[in-house]
Amino acid sequence: MTSISTPEILDSAYALLDAAVLTYKGEPTGTAAALDETVAAPNYEECFVRDFVPSALVFLCDGKPEIVRNFLKMVVSLRNQQSVMEGHERALGLMPASFRVPAEDDAEGKPTADFGELAIGRVAPVDSAMWWVILLRSYILVTGDVALAHSKEFQESMRYTLDLYLKESFETSPAMLVPDASFMIDRRMGVYGHPLEIQALLYGMLCTAQELLLPTPENERLLSNCKKRMQTLRSYVRIYYWLDLQRLNEIHRFRAEEFGKDAANHLNIYPETIPEWIDGWLPPESGYLVGNLGVGRMDFRLFSFGNLLSILFGLATDEQAQQIMNLYEARWEELVGVMPLKIAYPAVDGDKWRYTTGSDPKNVPWSYHNGGSWPCLIWAFVGAALRTGRHELAHKMLNQAMTRLHHDNWPEYYDGKKGNLIGRRSNMKQTWTASAVILGHHFLEKPDALAVFESINF
Ligand code: GLC
Repeated sequence: MTSISTPEILDSAYALLDAAVLTYKGEPTGTAAALDETVAAPNYEECFVRDFVPSALVFLCDGKPEIVRNFLKMVVSLRNQQSVMEGHERALGLMPASFRVPAEDDAEGKPTADFGELAIGRVAPVDSAMWWVILLRSYILVTGDVALAHSKEFQESMRYTLDLYLKESFETSPAMLVPDASFMIDRRMGVYGHPLEIQALLYGMLCTAQELLLPTPENERLLSNCKKRMQTLRSYVRIYYWLDLQRLNEIHRFRAEEFGKDAANHLNIYPETIPEWIDGWLPPESGYLVGNLGVGRMDFRLFSFGNLLSILFGLATDEQAQQIMNLYEARWEELVGVMPLKIAYPAVDGDKWRYTTGSDPKNVPWSYHNGGSWPCLIWAFVGAALRTGRHELAHKMLNQAMTRLHHDNWPEYYDGKKGNLIGRRSNMKQTWTASAVILGHHFLEKPDALAVFESINF
């Protein structure tokens, strides 16, 4: 690989980001997910709410907030497009997974949203509304434009979302219950129930909403519920999702079939479900938040984004945050490998792959969501590393990845145990790959930039 300077790499990343900007009525409104013309799935031309987040943070850091403002308004305006199935009530709190803007020369055209009714597998984009609220706060932090959050439309939008997300359904814990594939992992992957990433986003949203919702009599009940749920969720995740050697020992010796209030093993998790790979894998002084928790079920896989967001939002305690970073340091070869960063570790294979993914050929072991490596997570890793004072890890990750990402034309993901191969069905020119590198670089160069994503501690 020819050596290339950091400014040249960043120029190339910016060229991709700028080319990906989508406009509506002449105004920048979002970014396309990828610019690879050879891609089969047409929805990569659309603006995905979750994909836009790192791009938006780059625009905010660069003093270009207009596109973020337009995006926030666009998403709100699309809310009514959600189709309602017969016999269902309209729940306005959901926000779309993605939207498409009409071609510039189509004066009559209107933007159209996909709430999952078109997406592969008809998946529910539960994370979108949470990202929207979190991004709104970043926008306000940078611009001081509180009026936007206080506008009738935005207040109403937040209320709809909180009403829906805090509504009692069939939960038996403070964690939020969702169907499979409701967040970044938007294919069947055994991530139904109470996946960590959703809990981290919920926590981030609840903290944020308390700042942004006006303390009117109308909001009193919601604000009080936000606060309580945020506190109970935080304690629950910190205790029950946490896994280190001590906790592993406790689970290893769990008694099962306990009835009643004082049960230590309240979810009835059988020690026999501890996977073999974990024996000897966890170094001392390290730990992580497990991927999912349900009845008789602890998903021991490590999901990077959920852990990193838990650090960024302050859902993990300071000590836990340090231990998570210790784990990345000690298990660098497996979790970061050649190209960052494992979305989930380890991969599921054999029969387990068959019944976890529904024999999904895109999610074969060590590919895509099933143990593939996602450079779009770089920004969250760099942010979490800086927040925990681990600058050397942040530098190491970025230095290691930048040249190859540029050389490989900004792929969406990598395959292989060490992330050595460009993903078999990976797009090139994937926008959030480029923006994750720019944002990671901003965080490192200008520590103040991290303020756009500062954790809120109540
Ligand atoms: C894939 C990813 C999803 C992303 C989308 C667009 O479906 O799993 O998280 O939003 O591609 O890049």
